[in-house]
Amino acid sequence: MTFRVAILGAGPSGLAQLRAFEAARCDDAESPEIVCYEKQSDWGGLWNYTWRTGLDLYGEPVHGSMYRYLWSNGPKECLEFANYSFEEHFGRPIPSYPPRAVLRDYIIGRVAKSNVRQHIRFNTAVHWVAYDESTGKFAVTVRDLKQDQLITEEFDHVIVATGHFSTPNAPYFEGLEQFPGRVLHAHDFRDACEFQGKNLLLVGSSYSAEDIGTQCHKYGAKSVTFSYRTKPMGFDWPESFAEVPLLTNVVGKTAHFKDGTSKEVDAIILCTGYQHHFPFLPNELMLSTRNRLYPEGLYKGIVSLANPKLMFLGMQDQYYTFNMFDAQAWYARDIMLGRIKLPAEQAMASDTRKWVAREEQVADPFEAIDFQAAYILDLLEPTDYPPFDVLTVADMFKEWEHHKEADILGYRNKSYRSTLTGTMAPVHHTPWMDAMDDSLEAFLHGKQSQPAKEST
Ligand SMILES: Cc1cc2nc3c(=O)[nH]c(=O)nc-3n(C[C@H](O)[C@H](O)[C@H](O)COP(=O)(O)OP(=O)(O)OC[C@H]3O[C@@H](n4cnc5c(N)ncnc54)[C@H](O)[C@@H]3O)c2cc1C
Ligand SMILES: NC(=O)c1ccc[n+]([C@@H]2O[C@H](COP(=O)([O-])OP(=O)(O)OC[C@H]3O[C@@H](n4cnc5c(N)ncnc54)[C@H](OP(=O)(O)O)[C@@H]3O)[C@@H](O)[C@H]2O)c1
Repeated sequence: MTFRVAILGAGPSGLAQLRAFEAARCDDAESPEIVCYEKQSDWGGLWNYTWRTGLDLYGEPVHGSMYRYLWSNGPKECLEFANYSFEEHFGRPIPSYPPRAVLRDYIIGRVAKSNVRQHIRFNTAVHWVAYDESTGKFAVTVRDLKQDQLITEEFDHVIVATGHFSTPNAPYFEGLEQFPGRVLHAHDFRDACEFQGKNLLLVGSSYSAEDIGTQCHKYGAKSVTFSYRTKPMGFDWPESFAEVPLLTNVVGKTAHFKDGTSKEVDAIILCTGYQHHFPFLPNELMLSTRNRLYPEGLYKGIVSLANPKLMFLGMQDQYYTFNMFDAQAWYARDIMLGRIKLPAEQAMASDTRKWVAREEQVADPFEAIDFQAAYILDLLEPTDYPPFDVLTVADMFKEWEHHKEADILGYRNKSYRSTLTGTMAPVHHTPWMDAMDDSLEAFLHGKQSQPAKEST
């Protein structure tokens, strides 16, 4: 008897789940009936650029947090799918740091080769998930946005792949309501050109602060001041950048910081991260976690300890991305197909505690990379996801960290070797600081150098 699976979200994680079932279908495995609900009108998740902020056309929260001129902040060789290389997709080697549109093309290129799109109901927002103990089934209630109709369907398994970098964490600082300039969260940031000639204050000291700050500098901001809560990023910043302790309050245009210093600024961008937010889950199924490498309550980082028929993909803080989502999706698929037997509740809880405790010993980004590599290797072991060189990828991430330390505005000019094809990426035709056009056409079809060293 077949069973029914609901996949919530058609971003890279949801698409990985669709692709995993597609791979099993080719082995003649029992195939479930799959419905993937996606509130956007297209697949790709965060990688779809939208000009909208706030609410969408139908009054649903806008999912997109990406902005114009966003380039990969890690080498593409670190996120390559094990069963689909960049070289296969583009028909030739491409540089290591592609802009958003190029990565989107790659992500959807893989799934477009199969029939999985037929399973996706676009313009359909998940509003509620309830579990019925007596039937052992989930009732998933969605809103068909175009028809403005609520629909409920039953499923045996629910895969939550709705992402966790969309609902802003926006702390309050005294005086913000009087500030005579723009105050926004990174989620609503769209175009650095808006801040040309301005003095900017960015609160936060992680990837969004670093990237939006360097981006605004590239497109002509006068100065960028980062305000950190725990510690500064510590890069070797050009002169127009500064890192200062946490913002205490704002008086008029003057921002005051914890060390008693102050700075007059024209706009404030809260790069203060995101919340794991699942407004469609009842208390008993809720996943509550901060942004961490091993969220509590998820066996193997996937399976809800509250109800193992509910699984989550991509809920970790991310060094590895697309290939980690694949490893998770293959594992989740094999649980659903009965190829992997889940241990008893106690054993799942204790295994999860072990990983959480191990994460708590992680002291720096290098150990964090090793931790995530170990996690992925653990997931890959029982599945038939094609082998990929997780540890060499970990070494590349460490090299990337060093490149950033050496040159925060120039690290994107570096090249890495694909662990799949052995090809060293060509150097891009334009240094990142001078590459103002982030379109796929400019990236792929501008003047392109030959591969620096191919397959040596
Ligand atoms: C600004 C920014 C830049 C990033 N840059 C990089 C990068 O350079 N490289 C990298 O590897 N990673 C990057 N990431 C990380 C990013 O999280 C992953 O690459 C990837 O998009 C995560 O995939 P996902 O499918 O888990 O989530 P998402 O991409 O967030 O997709 C979730 C999907 O679920 C849908 N959805 C949400 N709620 C509902 C609902 N209620 N009903 C129906 N559908 C719903 C959304 O519309 C979306 O399509 C970046 C993240 C951000 C925020
Ligand atoms: N492609 C790209 O170039 C690009 C660009 C942007 C983002 N991203 C991706 O987007 C994801 C999210 O990154 P993110 O930087 O938005 O989130 P994040 O990594 O979770 O970092 C959140 C930051 O906000 C700070 N913060 C949280 N609450 C605060 C408060 N109350 N007051 C002051 N500071 C506070 C944190 O400080 P503490 O350190 O004190 O906790 C931390 O510096 C990452 O996966 C990243 O790779 C990629």
